[in-house]
Amino acid sequence: MTLKVCVGSSCHLKGSYAVIEELKKVIAEYGLEKQVNLQASFCLGHCSAGVTVKADDEYIEGLSEQNTRDIFVEKILPRVR
Ligand code: FES
Repeated sequence: MTLKVCVGSSCHLKGSYAVIEELKKVIAEYGLEKQVNLQASFCLGHCSAGVTVKADDEYIEGLSEQNTRDIFVEKILPRVR
């Protein structure tokens, strides 16, 4: 899976960097470095709702440092296992 994290200006201000760091940690914990290709992306066009990521063709909005782990486990993990 390709996981793109928006680092456009709006998402950047809402904490993209912390979300990326959190994702790196969780991906490493689950040993998914080969399955998940983590990338930064320009604006994904969903600026209003927290940090946006695109998991292959699905947009997931509203990530923050606090909820990234839960969202990963709930929405991304089932798709890469
Ligand atoms: S800045 Fe992230 S979706 Fe636009």
